Amino acid sequence: MNNYFNLLRGVCLGVIEIVDGIYYVGVDDKKTKFFESIWPIPEGISYNAYLIIDDKVALIEGGVKQDFSREFLKKLESIIDLDELDYIVVNHMEPDHTGTLPLLYKMAKRAKIIISKMGKKMLKSFYGIENEERIITVRDFEELSLGKRKLKFIMTPGVHWPETMMTYEERSKILFSSDAFGTYGSLDGSLFDSEVDLEVSLERAKRYFVNIVGMYAIQAKNALNKLSKFEIRMIAPSHGPIWKEHIKLILDLYTKLTNKEEEDKVLIVYGSMYGFTEEAVEVMARLLKENGIKTVVHNATYIHPSYSLSEAWDSKIIIFAFPTYDAGPFIPVYTTAYYIIRKNIMNKKFAIFGSYGWSGKGYMELIRMLEAKKWKLIEPIVEFNGGIRKDNLEKIKELVEKIIKEVKA
Ligand code: FEO
Repeated sequence: MNNYFNLLRGVCLGVIEIVDGIYYVGVDDKKTKFFESIWPIPEGISYNAYLIIDDKVALIEGGVKQDFSREFLKKLESIIDLDELDYIVVNHMEPDHTGTLPLLYKMAKRAKIIISKMGKKMLKSFYGIENEERIITVRDFEELSLGKRKLKFIMTPGVHWPETMMTYEERSKILFSSDAFGTYGSLDGSLFDSEVDLEVSLERAKRYFVNIVGMYAIQAKNALNKLSKFEIRMIAPSHGPIWKEHIKLILDLYTKLTNKEEEDKVLIVYGSMYGFTEEAVEVMARLLKENGIKTVVHNATYIHPSYSLSEAWDSKIIIFAFPTYDAGPFIPVYTTAYYIIRKNIMNKKFAIFGSYGWSGKGYMELIRMLEAKKWKLIEPIVEFNGGIRKDNLEKIKELVEKIIKEVKA
């Protein structure tokens, strides 16, 4: 294996020097369809890793996803001989960053793993790595000199897993932030924030945060407070572009997301088998927009809950519109609602309307689920037999008026 890779030494394959002696050695994944086998990533994703060459040589991040071992090792070996690697800093144990670790650990025989105390337990349970002589556990704010550069480790439990930490390099003032400030989307050669469409990247960062870290928003808020004491010139996350020119934009986004700040926005999540409910959704959306209310409409059959979840995060009100199906809620809408509450989105206001064929009230199960998370129903529930008629329209108008009041409250 070593010989094969040695043949490739000196070939620069997407290795990028981000500052003097610090290299990007991550990879793009444009093959995986669902991140964590849950979240769609048609835009791909990158697994970032960084190599610091100083008196000591350190890899920041445990590596990349296992499927990309060949590409990753090729990059590393284009800069160093693996025997030169002194440290592998494992900020986070999730296998999108450590899938290559067992192989690298075997090949880089001198390298010691730097990891949090909890991460060390995972090292053993995930990969059977437990040689005490090659594992150094670090505490909050502990430092490690590499020569001219010095690393400081910042414990950030919950962002994303409980063992997670970040690494700060004092000379360059780069924060290697692990999952935090990451985005979906392959880099395609655009490594820095100045090289990407910012609006797109921030939207990807938002969906990534809500999908992956959202459950632990409080811990992420704690991490932000902790980081506010550091001078940061660059944020180098483990997914997506490096934040350099627009650090404030990503920090502001994280402040908004971790505070669960809402916009004056309504999300309509709907399902419709034959168009009766969809017709009412059109009416509802038009009435809201006529009244200047920002309204996002998602057909739950076709839009993955990952996207609705991201919209729900900062919506003031979520409207679920669907027909009764087998005496219960319409399955795709219920599924989307389940994704939303599973990310600890509490205390939202919601409304319900929809059609039924012969007996209604399919929404009861949904109401129970939402009220268990302290969601508050805005009445009336507008339910109609078959298509909407004039009297139903009146009720929809009544519901819209109440929703507008709530949004503007
Ligand atoms: Fe990118 Fe939580 O792993």
